[in-house]
Amino acid sequence: MTTKEYRRLHAEWYERVSAREDHTKEIEFLAKCIKASGEPVLELGSGTGRVLVPLLERGFDIFGIDTSEDMTARCQAVCRAKGLQAKLYQQSMIDFSLPSKFGTVLLTSGGLGLFVSDQDIRSTFGRVMAHLEPGGLFLYEFEPVPVEVNPSWNTGNWAGDWLAEPDGLVIAWRKRMKYDAATHVWDSLFVVEKFLNGRLVESEANERTGRFFTVKEALEFGKAAGFVDLKATHWLTEEPPNKDSKVVTARCHKPLGE
Ligand SMILES: C[S@@+](CC[C@H](N)C(=O)[O-])C[C@H]1O[C@@H](n2cnc3c(N)ncnc32)[C@H](O)[C@@H]1O
Repeated sequence: MTTKEYRRLHAEWYERVSAREDHTKEIEFLAKCIKASGEPVLELGSGTGRVLVPLLERGFDIFGIDTSEDMTARCQAVCRAKGLQAKLYQQSMIDFSLPSKFGTVLLTSGGLGLFVSDQDIRSTFGRVMAHLEPGGLFLYEFEPVPVEVNPSWNTGNWAGDWLAEPDGLVIAWRKRMKYDAATHVWDSLFVVEKFLNGRLVESEANERTGRFFTVKEALEFGKAAGFVDLKATHWLTEEPPNKDSKVVTARCHKPLGE
């Protein structure tokens, strides 16, 4: 499979930007969900370990799968440096196969939006069902269909930012989005540039097609796959989604006795 994102510079950008944010509230929310549903845990698209590493540090038995070699290598390096035992597999969530069953499966960071085709989602949910213990939790997040289209989309405008490190490293990024309000599918071009002491040393163009979902649509995928006790909440809360929800968390369970 040719990947058009989450390669070398994208992975570095992801790790550096993540390190500048406080994820404690998110990790505590996920830890609470795991304690209620059980271990081991599987994170789909575990990336650089933004979520997986702090959960490992809290003593949870957690596995990760990801298609990106560069993201996974960074996660492995962090685990090594911290003396943590990483159980990482380079597999796609669409057709993964692992020798374990899980009490909890996580798909965070709006990960449902990695998919555009219903078929890929059905396949992923089928693999999750096959790997969950009866009663196990599947938590998946998605970005809901926006109430208002962002004024910078479809205009040709770039949105971006940069970070500067004390050692003279600057990473700048910019993004353009094209959004189809009829299908809720978007295309983006995400350009990352790395400068050292003012000189461009590396650049990378990442292409991505993604999707927003209505809450009903997102829950329907869980229901169709045979999950029960489905609910959707505003990100990191027990409140229902509202018009300001940028991310929605869906939770559902594998039926007991299956
Ligand atoms: C936005 S990052 C999230 C990483 C991590 N979950 C976090 O919250 O920081 C999405 C990750 O999903 C991975 N990914 C994309 N498609 C995938 C697939 N089909 N199977 C497994 N991983 C995938 C990417 O390589 C990337 O590391």
